[in-house]
Amino acid sequence: MKKLLILPGDGIGPEVTKQCIKIIDFFNNQPDSKIEYEEDLFGGASIDHNGKPLNDIVLNKALDADAVLLGAVGGPKWENLDHELKPESGLLKLRKKLQTYANLRPGKVFKSLSDASSLKPEVLKDTDIFVVRELTGGIYFGEPRFSKKVDGKRVASNPLVYNEEEIVRVAKVAFDIARKRKNKVTSLDKANVLEVMQLWRDVVSEVHSKNYQDIELEHLYIDNAAMQVIKRPSSFDVILASNLFGDIISDEVAELTGSLGMLPSASVGENKAIYEPVHGSAPDIAGQNIANPIAAILSLSMMYKYSFNLDNVSNIIEQAVANTLDSGLRTKDIGSNNQKILNCNEMGDSILNNIKKIF
Ligand code: IPM
Ligand code: MG
Repeated sequence: MKKLLILPGDGIGPEVTKQCIKIIDFFNNQPDSKIEYEEDLFGGASIDHNGKPLNDIVLNKALDADAVLLGAVGGPKWENLDHELKPESGLLKLRKKLQTYANLRPGKVFKSLSDASSLKPEVLKDTDIFVVRELTGGIYFGEPRFSKKVDGKRVASNPLVYNEEEIVRVAKVAFDIARKRKNKVTSLDKANVLEVMQLWRDVVSEVHSKNYQDIELEHLYIDNAAMQVIKRPSSFDVILASNLFGDIISDEVAELTGSLGMLPSASVGENKAIYEPVHGSAPDIAGQNIANPIAAILSLSMMYKYSFNLDNVSNIIEQAVANTLDSGLRTKDIGSNNQKILNCNEMGDSILNNIKKIF
């Protein structure tokens, strides 16, 4: 049987993953969609218990599983720890060890949510952006990284390094996805200033001319892209970006969809995958049962599709989310005055009910 490791993590992580588990339990009671799962500690929760954000036992379980479902990591409690002891470094280690080099972040605007975005509905119309972010290289992992005193002054460094193989493999993922969508890739860089970003642009162009000439390729500098994404969002299809630029642009894309609470992600490599909402642990609202579980639930839907080949289950979950939103139900982050605001649990239950109706 397929194996899933669930790491709820910190802040709102446990609240939103709980909603996913209800859905998994439902599908586990149906023939043909059973998966075996177990939960473990990760991030700050693991620091409190094991002294490390990701211990070897949990890492080995992750390496042994077919997929990992994450909640979120981090919080003020652990902010002042040394860098390698922070919850976030556990997440980076997990991504690196599982070699999930392509992070897929689909930013589809649900019709019934077009009024939740800060952009005008007519600008947003038909927006459906899919961000492909490089996840195991770049400035997040560049060496030598340090923070120290030199001649009495504090100096810190994080080099931005890519080799061509790292760019080729993630570019291929982006072009392959574009082929199943609207056949366009916009690659982000800063080739006007940085050698490494000139390499990025050159390699993406080479991959394109070798195997993907049927796809339209656009190169944009990151600063210009940040503007174009809010000016003409519906003209984008797949956005390909390095680790840091992808981190930044995907939060911007999330806001187009109405809320960061809506954006799911899948991190994929040769054979392992991690599924996690794009939002963080949101310590300001943690423990209050008001978080939006939709990003986590849509991440679960991606898991059924990409790791377990259960496209039907994945589609049912997505449809159930759309139906729930269509019926006017909202969590606080995407709601307005005249709508019914549900808490995290209630939103999870409503989506589950809609799943049962479709099933
Ligand atoms: C994300 C997050 C992470 C990142 C943090 C929590 C390490 O912002 O997944 O976008 O920067 O990759
Ligand atoms: Mg981020």
